[in-house]
Amino acid sequence: MIRNVYKIVILAFIFVCYQGCDKQNSKELALHLNDDSLFIKEKVDDLLSQMTLEEKIGQMNQYNGFWDVTGPTPDSGDAAKKYEHLKKGYVGSMLNVRGVKDVMEVQKIAVEETRLGIPLIIGFDVIHGYKTLSPIPLAESASWDLESIKKSARVAAIEAAAAGINWTFAPMVDISRDARWGRVMEGAGEDPYLGSLIAKARIQGFQGDDLSSHETIAACAKHWAGYGFAESGRDYNTVDVGTSTLNNIIFPPFKASVEAGVRTFMNSFNELNGIPATGNAFLQREILKGKWNFDGFVVSDWGSMIEMIEHGFVKDKKQAAEISAIAGSDMDMESYAYVEELANLVREGRVDEALIDDAVKRILTVKYELGLFDDPYKYCNETRETEVTGSEAIQEAVLDMARKSIVLLKNENNLLPLSKSGQKIGLIGPLAADKTSPLGSWRIGADDNTAVSVLEGLQRYKNNAITYAKGADLTIGETLFAIELDINKDDTSGFSEAIEVAKNSDVVIMVLGEHGFQSGEARSRTNLDLPGVQQELLEAVYNVNKNIVLVLNNGRPLTITWADEHIPAIVEAWQLGTQSGNAIAEVLYGDYNPSGKLPMTFPRSVGQIPIYYNYKNTGRPTIPAPKEVFWSHYIDESNEPLYPFGYGLSYTTFLYSDLEVTKASEEVVEVSLKLENTGKVSGKEVVQLYIHDLFATVTRPVKELKGFELVELAPNEIKSVTFKLTKKELGFYNNSGDFVLEPGEFKVYVGGSSKAVLESKFTINNNF
Ligand code: BGC
Repeated sequence: MIRNVYKIVILAFIFVCYQGCDKQNSKELALHLNDDSLFIKEKVDDLLSQMTLEEKIGQMNQYNGFWDVTGPTPDSGDAAKKYEHLKKGYVGSMLNVRGVKDVMEVQKIAVEETRLGIPLIIGFDVIHGYKTLSPIPLAESASWDLESIKKSARVAAIEAAAAGINWTFAPMVDISRDARWGRVMEGAGEDPYLGSLIAKARIQGFQGDDLSSHETIAACAKHWAGYGFAESGRDYNTVDVGTSTLNNIIFPPFKASVEAGVRTFMNSFNELNGIPATGNAFLQREILKGKWNFDGFVVSDWGSMIEMIEHGFVKDKKQAAEISAIAGSDMDMESYAYVEELANLVREGRVDEALIDDAVKRILTVKYELGLFDDPYKYCNETRETEVTGSEAIQEAVLDMARKSIVLLKNENNLLPLSKSGQKIGLIGPLAADKTSPLGSWRIGADDNTAVSVLEGLQRYKNNAITYAKGADLTIGETLFAIELDINKDDTSGFSEAIEVAKNSDVVIMVLGEHGFQSGEARSRTNLDLPGVQQELLEAVYNVNKNIVLVLNNGRPLTITWADEHIPAIVEAWQLGTQSGNAIAEVLYGDYNPSGKLPMTFPRSVGQIPIYYNYKNTGRPTIPAPKEVFWSHYIDESNEPLYPFGYGLSYTTFLYSDLEVTKASEEVVEVSLKLENTGKVSGKEVVQLYIHDLFATVTRPVKELKGFELVELAPNEIKSVTFKLTKKELGFYNNSGDFVLEPGEFKVYVGGSSKAVLESKFTINNNF
């Protein structure tokens, strides 16, 4: 009540003020209205009423900065034009402008030189950190540790915000079942349940509880939608998926993002079932802004409006602008379509101005929420930037995340952890001393050579003798972000040195895998083996010393079938960011007991792709009948993955027992079990629960993850774990897009991977 009275007084004040103001001082008015964040809607409406059509469209226009590029440079993209547009108020946002000094430069133009002084929103790809890097998102997802993932996004936001950035193009919540697609490194893997929870954690981490704090930034769920299903894993390729996959696999993490309050969405380059996402009204208007009631704004992907011409969907830039605006794309990233065409389209009556108003309101609202109208320079404090960048607290957080992201894939005869003294260790491999590659892809803000290498990490343990030999180069020449990598395919001149080192070592640690820039955008691969001469190097070393620990650095699942058959210990260390070498050394020496679990299936061979745990049964068996060929299989490869989704070992062992299913009420099924640490050291286990809805009107996968819990146990300790299954976990989307729960029989599985060990059954009746 008091709030309402207060509101009326303020509104009356605004009205009186507005009446008395001429256009000259309307800029002051716009800034003046920022004192109270309670009335953003009124402020936005008021500001909108002062804007010319061109100024409104300006808010819908986003330009790349003048230095870094993260996409092809469009023809119209010259700096002089950008400055001119900035001064006229025809730019609402810029991306790839970073660092307080540079952000100040453009923000000052927007605030002090344009008629209305509307601040810019500054976007940047803070994908796994800004300057201090966390593990790549796929690696972080292997932790299954939502609190840590949230914290990782939190520190990324703090460091980025201190550098003038107030909006990240993250999280990427695209589900993908195809490791050939280079961007799997940027997501949470193949599962919509895990992906939804991780999306939520990341959004909460970036945005915090108070978006107007100078330590939080707006998040962006991308790429809406279907981008992770690019045909044959080739980036930007056509996407053609059925309704059930769309509703049950692709949409859920996006829906979870809306529920978590994400302030922006980015659409995608791909067409989805014949309609490019940027011009897709079903996705943007019907589902996102309609059914899900999303009240933030949608930015296009880089140049995705004009790319609709190449798709064969629109014939020119003008039609691209028309279709995009009507379909619900609110901001144009680097297509120059809105800024050049939209005003005429409105004047010609082809685009309703109400649609422009709606888009601008959404954009202004987020700017108000960020507090940019209160203080457009609130993210621009050079002292803070110096103090925060690379701070001890941030380094500690990324190290913690790095440890938790490591997955132990194999550990025959307990070769790991290594003994801390008296060992001759041979360290071999092109990535063993590398200080750049562990930073991974999407690291525009980070400097080369800033990661702790494995060599440096191991050197901290001083009582073992380490001899290092590179063995072979992975790449030849420069490794620039925008350039295709030149992989070394024939230079084996370093092998002899490596072989000598191996011969004289008790244990050999080999650090092999992909270069950091071999995954990420536009980095699709048709082979998922160890690139270049690394497989040969591995085999050459194996011939003289079989005591090998293989440490993998990679941005996606690899087909390391030979290594799995021959190498006794394998550690999946992904690209772990700035603290990479320290985290790896701690795990190799047992100062940290690994607990990561794979968020994506590792295939045995590329021909099995797409391979994923939540597949459907066919009418034919997947197990051979005697003398029978007509079963669903390959004649030259098993159906089984190399390592299943959810898989990962520990230095201890866990025993699952006493699975019980009880119906706690008419709305909840309770599933409980006991977990015992049967090994000699403390450890953490990700207890996973899967269901199978046996018969349904739309067939259901053989397994669906529906719960997990991280459980820490001392040796011999036993804990009970209980999961609750409700309609939310047991239902699914039918082909009309409705969420339904169908009565009937369910199987439930519990264990330490998707090959869960315990199994039971229950039935849901009509009253559930
Ligand atoms: C990518 C986006 C990214 C944008 C801006 C595009 O090429 O697809 O994910 O946010 O560039 O850098």
